[in-house]
Amino acid sequence: MAFDIDMIKAVYENIGERVNKAKALTGKPLTLAEKILYSHLSQGDPTEVYKRGVDYVDFGPDRIALQDATAQMALLQFMQAGKAKTAVPTTVHCDHLIQAKIGAAADLQNALNTSNEVFNFLETVSDKYGVGFWKPGAGIIHQVVLENYAFPGGMMIGTDSHTVNAGGLGMLAIGVGGADAVDVMAGMPWELKYPKLIGVKLTGELNGWTASKDVILKVAGILTVKGGTGAILEYFGEGARSLSCTGKGTICNMGAEIGATTSTFGYDDSMERYLRATGREEVADMANGIKEHLTGDPEVYANPEQYFDQVIEINLSELEPHINGPFTPDLATPVSEMASTLKENGWPEKIEWGLIGSCTNSSYEDISRAASIAEQALEKGLKTKAEFGINPGSEQVRYTIERDGYIETFEKLDAKIFTNACGPCIGQWARSGADQGEKNSIIHSFNRNFAKRNDGNPNTHAFVASPEMVAAIAISGNLGFNPITDKLVNENGEEVMLDPPKGDELPEKGFDVEDPGFKAPSEDGSSVTISVNPDSKRLQLLTPFAPWTGENVYGAKLLIKAKGKCTTDHISMAGPWLRFRGHLDNIANNTLTGAVNAFNDKTDNVKNQLTGEYGAVPDVQRAYKAAGVPTIVVGDQNYGEGSSREHAAMQPRHLGVIAVLVRSFARIHETNLKKQGMLALTFANEADYDKIQEDDTLDFVDLKEFSAGKPLTIVAKHADGSEDTILANHTYNEGQIEWFRAGSALNLIKKQNA
Ligand code: F3S
Repeated sequence: MAFDIDMIKAVYENIGERVNKAKALTGKPLTLAEKILYSHLSQGDPTEVYKRGVDYVDFGPDRIALQDATAQMALLQFMQAGKAKTAVPTTVHCDHLIQAKIGAAADLQNALNTSNEVFNFLETVSDKYGVGFWKPGAGIIHQVVLENYAFPGGMMIGTDSHTVNAGGLGMLAIGVGGADAVDVMAGMPWELKYPKLIGVKLTGELNGWTASKDVILKVAGILTVKGGTGAILEYFGEGARSLSCTGKGTICNMGAEIGATTSTFGYDDSMERYLRATGREEVADMANGIKEHLTGDPEVYANPEQYFDQVIEINLSELEPHINGPFTPDLATPVSEMASTLKENGWPEKIEWGLIGSCTNSSYEDISRAASIAEQALEKGLKTKAEFGINPGSEQVRYTIERDGYIETFEKLDAKIFTNACGPCIGQWARSGADQGEKNSIIHSFNRNFAKRNDGNPNTHAFVASPEMVAAIAISGNLGFNPITDKLVNENGEEVMLDPPKGDELPEKGFDVEDPGFKAPSEDGSSVTISVNPDSKRLQLLTPFAPWTGENVYGAKLLIKAKGKCTTDHISMAGPWLRFRGHLDNIANNTLTGAVNAFNDKTDNVKNQLTGEYGAVPDVQRAYKAAGVPTIVVGDQNYGEGSSREHAAMQPRHLGVIAVLVRSFARIHETNLKKQGMLALTFANEADYDKIQEDDTLDFVDLKEFSAGKPLTIVAKHADGSEDTILANHTYNEGQIEWFRAGSALNLIKKQNA
């Protein structure tokens, strides 16, 4: 689907030389992750050695993928950059805004009825700016990327945490916030803290009921949800080579659940087979020519302890199927222990739903293995005790599994086939009765299982397993069922056992599809006009933020002094607000509503210094804005931690906040504030946080001398007439100070493009 062969050629032409330079610099053999990192520096050739977990490095990713929820604000911002086309190949995928309820056709129509303006907007912007557009129903972003765009040795970013799925094809693929994607689309480098490296050595071979999914369920149990933070997981060994390419994708996908930057595998035969089966023979041929650069060096894999920061070893021959959950993906229970573990914990034994699919597990292999269990159930006179739902990952997979009879098999078991979209995985599931809040269990082959994620019911215990295990457990209706040892009773009262699943890594007759759902952009999009209804509640074109006036700022008021934890969720809440993520003014009505006011310990209740009355934070801020009064936000430690969403910086900026002064920042949020043209400052003396009072007026007295490495001075004037002079540190370099002066990074890019 128009994968960019020239771009891949260019990457492959450079990779050998850059890898060799990196080897000479570091004086050691390299892991695959290091090879991809050092061959994707934004500067080109490597010239220095980076310290893992310490240095911030500028990279130049090869491509970008956006999903429909996060693409809205990313593209609205990109439109501000004054570029004719995105600087690197980019695609948009409409998969998050489709609710699963009745079945594929009806649900898709319903999504078109409710979100058409968003889909149309994304389609037109894509058309104009050279972005490939995957329509609603075409599939889930990561499955579509694996089938069409991922390539060994490449680097991509995507505005979705499970972008990491493309590691199954030997990429470094990393989930980022919209602001990072906009930078790269606009031709700027992308910054990442040089990651640590965790090696996972796989020996043996999967057999029986064990699937690729069980590898990552086991790894999640070992490393826990935080164990991969700041690290790349690199899988290697004979066991790694024995896995299918899509199975590798599953393992990389759920690397997001242990907090890993990304995960990857070295190029091997399974990847070659997958590239050829998905119409990318040319890529396979090119990759074969430079194989040695697309995997870690043999010395590294022979002595992994010497080259990785941590090494884990798993013997696939001995690995048991696992079921992880509830409420967290790292609570791993081997299937043989589930019957006793669920009793000990009081988890509901009866399984209400079995769900197969999502970006994690919806490959041809996954579906065929799960279908082999469904077929046995039909042959052996079993009926599913639980309800069954399937979300195919792409139209290509759906069309092919329909052709090969698997959809029919599932339908005979009364399964619901939902749209090729995220559906229940992201809570887009109108599950009947979920609003009753009853305690119940479901099992799925997705990746995340936090409370409320799937159906909004905090008492739904969601368990994660391989698709074949989901099928078996849904048929039994019992979470404690172990298909390896337990029997089921069929309709004739006979005891039967399920045989281990069988499946095909790739379809024997090849993949097939009538309409994959892709729309290529116009060659020349200059005449395409983008219209957004000014009355729209969900979309709003952005207007550039005003540049700095060139003057010091006097008379700023304190909007809120936030106490304790203030994450990006507190600054810009998710949940129902997500529907406004393409409308800055509407979503701004949630600004800082979750932050705790240090003066009264209340949320969303601050003093309006102009009237002396208390009100909701957005209302008070809008009153300051209407009166032309600049404001500042004061915060505590690690302000802005959590999701990297750019709304948390754009909203305060839109409402007229000029500075955020905190004890310390979460780095990504700090950078996002800088990009939006705000002052992101830290107390030079952390104790000065206590000096800020509720009725303070603040003067920025040396803004005209704003320069790299020099603190700014703020005079806090208190209501009793006293004053405190506060020194504020910052981490702006000269380039970032230009962002501030221009009003935003995008304003500056636009100026440079003019
Ligand atoms: Fe979609 Fe769930 Fe994957 S939301 S992108 S199917 S993690």
